[in-house]
Amino acid sequence: MTAQPRLFVTGANGQLGRLVLAALAAKVDPSRIVAGVRDVAAAADLAALGVELRVADYEKPATLEAAFAGIDRLLLISSSAVGARAPQHANVTAAAKAAGVGLVAYTSLLGGPASPLPLKAEHVETEAMLAASGLPHVLLRNGWYLENYNGFIPSALEHGAVAGAAGEGRIAAAARADYAEAAAVVLAGEGHAGKVYELAGDEAFTMAGWAAALSAAAGKSVVYRDLLEAEYRAFLVSVGLPEGLADLLATSDAGAARGGLFDDSHTLSRLIGRSTTPLAAVLAAALKG
Ligand SMILES: NC(=O)c1ccc[n+]([C@@H]2O[C@H](COP(=O)([O-])OP(=O)(O)OC[C@H]3O[C@@H](n4cnc5c(N)ncnc54)[C@H](OP(=O)(O)O)[C@@H]3O)[C@@H](O)[C@H]2O)c1
Repeated sequence: MTAQPRLFVTGANGQLGRLVLAALAAKVDPSRIVAGVRDVAAAADLAALGVELRVADYEKPATLEAAFAGIDRLLLISSSAVGARAPQHANVTAAAKAAGVGLVAYTSLLGGPASPLPLKAEHVETEAMLAASGLPHVLLRNGWYLENYNGFIPSALEHGAVAGAAGEGRIAAAARADYAEAAAVVLAGEGHAGKVYELAGDEAFTMAGWAAALSAAAGKSVVYRDLLEAEYRAFLVSVGLPEGLADLLATSDAGAARGGLFDDSHTLSRLIGRSTTPLAAVLAAALKG
């Protein structure tokens, strides 16, 4: 490892990736940072941070091998291509190994193999392939983003209700920026190889609590209507969601009902050195637009 390790962030054009880049650029000299993107033209603002841009497409191993040359530490942001992620992440792992990357940090799912969410499958597979690769690695097992619920706000305010299938499950969601800060702390810091971080918000809420928080933030009554998992899936399809997304949301809610999105270890706030962003702040920002 060099004295000044070069840091690479995949998926840098995504919502989490951009926040990681900003957090990293505030910690280390931007000339040490490389942003992996598919579309360089869409990343002009990242280049303006002073970071280098390299094309890194999970589907194109040749781009990955070239992109990781000279890289000491890599953040693999899990792909958004649900269902195609395991082979994509295998490409990244193989290229990292070939390039002699010294540390891979991976954004996995809270609970890892113990999660009751079916969404865990590709993350568990990726964790296993990292272990099998022999690459030093660190798992950032991210809980739900608070922002995942922002998309429900307009219809909740219009109808005075939000539906779900999360029952009384407590959800320790955190702001995307807080997970990004944790990733930057790990990538820029020392001593993280071999660690598994279960990352979640300091505050936990039920979906009824989310509805109450939205009511308070918007000054308008919103209630939570709990449905059976199958009813919720059918409801989501009936309002126009594609079946795959409806299934992902319904099964994830059912997992949340079983405690799959709850964690009270406060690992995230310890890593970032401050309390996580409150739900009320994320709702207020979303309502401002
Ligand atoms: N914890 C949660 O609540 C939660 C919620 C949603 C998603 N996630 C997971 O966390 C990841 C990051 O979240 P996010 O909010 O930043 O999602 P996002 O904004 O959708 O970003 C996904 C990133 O994946 C990249 N990507 C997709 N296919 C790729 C490929 N073939 N090669 C290289 N990059 C590829 C996209 O690249 P382009 O910019 O080039 O399209 C984008 O940068 C998601 O991809 C997903 O795995 C977590």
